[in-house]
Amino acid sequence: MNLCVLASGRGSNLKAIINARKSGNISSRVVLVVSNNSASGALLTAKKNHIPSIHLSAKLFVDQSSFDKEFLSLLKKFKIDLIVLAGYMKMISPAVTGKYKNRIINIHPALLPAFGGKGMYGMNVHEAVIKAKVRITGATVHYVDDVYDNGTIILQKEVKVKPGDDAETLGKRVLRTEHKLYPEAIKLLEENKVTLRSNKVYIKQSK
Ligand code: GRF
Repeated sequence: MNLCVLASGRGSNLKAIINARKSGNISSRVVLVVSNNSASGALLTAKKNHIPSIHLSAKLFVDQSSFDKEFLSLLKKFKIDLIVLAGYMKMISPAVTGKYKNRIINIHPALLPAFGGKGMYGMNVHEAVIKAKVRITGATVHYVDDVYDNGTIILQKEVKVKPGDDAETLGKRVLRTEHKLYPEAIKLLEENKVTLRSNKVYIKQSK
């Protein structure tokens, strides 16, 4: 599959996906990186790896529909099969979710539906987890629809909250899990092992 990764910040999940391809764990390739932030680590990582990248922000367009048009034409030009959100801080507009139905995925640093929704991003998530005194959190890969953190869940992995954890130590541990989980989900998708039926995901187990 040809992947387009959308990222706004650091881009460590982008790196994990690029490395998974380099080490042969996935066969999909990141062929385009898009960021709304010209100073993002993700754009830097793309350049270092000679992957076409673009700073694309709705602010640079007269309206949302001109932005969508440009984005859709890039997706077509690069023959994108799957849009991968990796720390992308913007909503994907219905014009795109409509055309790429069940072909957009996101990773969230908690066990959705817990600790998800508007405002639940970055350290806010881990701070809320610590405050709630839960003992288990984790990471979730899910399909993207028009509501924040709402699409059908593909994969989840638990991470223990240790006594003495703060948002930072917990966030680091969750991030390490994300870096394994995202390539795992991409592998399942590229091998056609994920079936969506009545908003439920069924995963074909390998023998
Ligand atoms: C990750 O924690 C991801 O779950 C969330 O945003 C963060 C992005 O981190 N959606 P990075 O930019 O991939 O390092």
